[in-house]
Amino acid sequence: MIAKIKETADFLKGKTNFTPEVGIILGSGLGGLVKAIDIKHSFEYGEIPNFPVSTVEGHHGRLIFGVLEGKNVIAMQGRFHYYEGYPMHEVTFPVRVLKLLGIKALFLSNAAGGLNKSFEVGDLMIIRDHINMFPENPLRGKNLDELGTRFPEMSEAYDKKLIAKARAIAKKHNIKTQMGVYVGSAGPTLETPSEYNMFRILGADVTGMSTVPEVIVARHMNIPCFAISVVTNLAEPEITDKPTSHDEVQNVAEVAEPKLTLIFKELVKGV
Ligand code: HPA
Repeated sequence: MIAKIKETADFLKGKTNFTPEVGIILGSGLGGLVKAIDIKHSFEYGEIPNFPVSTVEGHHGRLIFGVLEGKNVIAMQGRFHYYEGYPMHEVTFPVRVLKLLGIKALFLSNAAGGLNKSFEVGDLMIIRDHINMFPENPLRGKNLDELGTRFPEMSEAYDKKLIAKARAIAKKHNIKTQMGVYVGSAGPTLETPSEYNMFRILGADVTGMSTVPEVIVARHMNIPCFAISVVTNLAEPEITDKPTSHDEVQNVAEVAEPKLTLIFKELVKGV
């Protein structure tokens, strides 16, 4: 495992000679930030040794090396989801490669369903904590001691300083943001009304099918994480005639995306 991670990192180092400061993982329909990056190198996932290949609609599957607001960044345009069939070590493989390439912080975005009754479609929610409801933890198995400890601490999965800075940025630009808890589960089914209700009772504000595995692996390696959910639909168990569709998720994500891009850009500047 370690050998593969090193092999991939060495391949990318050899091709780019580039030390990134921030890694960015962009969720469904949220790839617009890439337009703001002065791209130096770009790789299709299929060209990168040991990388799984992304299949889901709306995910381009490109790893982008470039300069954003004067900072060297690597952006993943499209991520690997557990529901696509990848084992957890593949879902999280790129995060480990990013660490070996030198990132000092990881930013993530995702599309999520709103559970909190005060949320509206199109809201941005800064994730302050998560609940892992995936059937598997990406750190299960032999610990990779070179990367981190056997029993990583999760008391500050999402970096409080980055959250405070992001809130200040949003306020300055009059961008409405929510704060809350993301529950991650396997998918690919969206939740039944009762499951939405269960997640709400558990204390989650939004629900999605990503982010949690990547954040766990990043925290294992002590990388500060910052993540934002775009609320693309609302869980309304009492309204059964308005199901959520994947198209709806993508459309809302695209509309909300510029606000997210602005926050990520300004936050990168300050890292
Ligand atoms: N549930 C799970 N994942 C999602 C949802 C949802 O309602 N919306 C966007 N991603």
